[in-house]
Amino acid sequence: MISITNLSKSYNGKVKAVDNISLEIPDGKIFGFLGPNGAGKTTTIKMITGILTPDSGNILVSGHDIVKEPLDAKRSFAYVPDDPDVFPRLKGSEYLKFIGDIYNVPSDLRLERMKDLSRKFGLEDVLGDRIQSYSHGMRQKLILIGALLHDPENWILDEPMTGLDPKSSFQLKDMMRRHADDGKTVFFSTHVLDVAEKVCDHIAIIDKGRILFNGTVEEMRGEVRNHASLESMFLELTGDTEE
Ligand SMILES: Nc1ncnc2c1ncn2[C@@H]1O[C@H](COP(=O)(O)OP(=O)(O)OP(=O)(O)O)[C@@H](O)[C@H]1O
Ligand SMILES: [Mg+2]
Repeated sequence: MISITNLSKSYNGKVKAVDNISLEIPDGKIFGFLGPNGAGKTTTIKMITGILTPDSGNILVSGHDIVKEPLDAKRSFAYVPDDPDVFPRLKGSEYLKFIGDIYNVPSDLRLERMKDLSRKFGLEDVLGDRIQSYSHGMRQKLILIGALLHDPENWILDEPMTGLDPKSSFQLKDMMRRHADDGKTVFFSTHVLDVAEKVCDHIAIIDKGRILFNGTVEEMRGEVRNHASLESMFLELTGDTEE
């Protein structure tokens, strides 16, 4: 569960990248965070995960304030950033060991999860290679495996499907579904509206730092007219309102 209250952030004192948003991301749901390029998705996610400090507002992750209790909050989530850049000289297995150490995952459990996840994502044969030899998608999968190694309650994923091949993307969506069905939290940003429509229980749309919509896909269908698809709704909501 993640609670965001009156959150704002601007860069260099200029236009607000995130402008007074409030969101409840409940347990047991897949929550999709949509919006055009530059809408404020990554900025929001970086504040939730403690990478950026908010100008104002509060964020609770599993009840822990990310600013005041960062360690407790961080123990409760997995974060996959949009740019999968990690220690290029480490081998995949060394990276996962390092992450397992940081999060105190017992070694037998760590090995079991590493095996299971790397098999699911087809990465088991390259864990002995250096990360610098990995493709973009392979790095992304490695970070994903690392993020899930400590089996956290909240998954926070920034554009997780981008760069994944169809099989891995399917696996991830399946895992997201199971995680939510286990009563835990999945929050992810995406541009892929078809994915959002199929996968999400709940959707928020952000544009220019403000939340334009927050509800279920069904509720959105009710709210927006001419709604042949989520795509047409999205375009309508985020359309240029200036004449
Ligand atoms: N480091 C930064 N310095 C200055 N401005 C920034 C910085 N990062 C983001 N911004 C600005 O903040 C706004 C929101 O950017 P953000 O990266 O949060 O958008 P996004 O919704 O994640 O977009 P995308 O879909 O392209 O990933 C944009 O106007 C962007 O130019
Ligand atoms: Mg982004």
